[in-house]
Amino acid sequence: MPRFVTFNITEKSPRYWHGGNAFNTHFFNAFFTTFPAGETFFVRSVQKYRHLIKDEELQADINDFSTQEGNHSSAHDLHGDVLALQGYKSIARDNRFLDAGLKLFNKTMPRFSLAVTIAIEHFTAILSHQVYATPELFIEPLHEDFKPLFLWHAAEEIEHKGVAYDVYEEVDGSYWLRIIAMMLTTVAILMLVFIRLSPLLRKDGLLFSGSTWKQGMSFLFGKNGLFTLVVPHYLQFYRRSFHPWDQQDYHFIDEFRAQFDSGDFVNEIPTPEATVPA
Ligand SMILES: [Fe+2]
Ligand SMILES: [Fe+2]
Repeated sequence: MPRFVTFNITEKSPRYWHGGNAFNTHFFNAFFTTFPAGETFFVRSVQKYRHLIKDEELQADINDFSTQEGNHSSAHDLHGDVLALQGYKSIARDNRFLDAGLKLFNKTMPRFSLAVTIAIEHFTAILSHQVYATPELFIEPLHEDFKPLFLWHAAEEIEHKGVAYDVYEEVDGSYWLRIIAMMLTTVAILMLVFIRLSPLLRKDGLLFSGSTWKQGMSFLFGKNGLFTLVVPHYLQFYRRSFHPWDQQDYHFIDEFRAQFDSGDFVNEIPTPEATVPA
């Protein structure tokens, strides 16, 4: 079920909103700002095949999936606008290339686009699971302005994590196509994040800072690093019998819903323009 949430992320929000840490913040900045182009791509990939879906429940799920992803895309667009106001100009340019590339991908390889969509939806489901499973890594270090965005997006990603997969099963269901898609997607995501992260660090004079990278690599690949923690969940995708709901984590949505229903997520709607000092 799509939920309308507004955010208090403005130019006045702290520059390093993840524990005051530059690398960690810019990692999420680099990753999150791909979502407007990425989530629009997911919706196009799924909508392309909805005429083949006979099941009415899955048709309704596709509607919810598309609305949720559209809302997420708008929210992350707002974040991108705020980053531009804070002086990080590379993101808008990178996103124009990403969007054009993904549109061409949809047009020329629709079936492979759907396979890539289920691969990336697995990534978002994994990270969303981790947001709730390890709040000490994902939530507690955050500035208050950013907590609603993480909690809301993660809960809705968990909620719709099976939709694109169910469409894929109806349309194609090929094991090897999704495996090839996942392997290529894994490499592409890692490269993309670092390609987008580098200009953000360069802007802050940290691109060649050894201590920044040392800490960052530990944050991502260390003993309890963000990527290290999710390896078992990630590998589930390679099973022939895999389905996203093999990992039962609906209780996290209940946790979010309790907060949402209590009104925790309603803020004033900020616009980036309104935050520019006169
Ligand atoms: Fe999303
Ligand atoms: Fe999603």
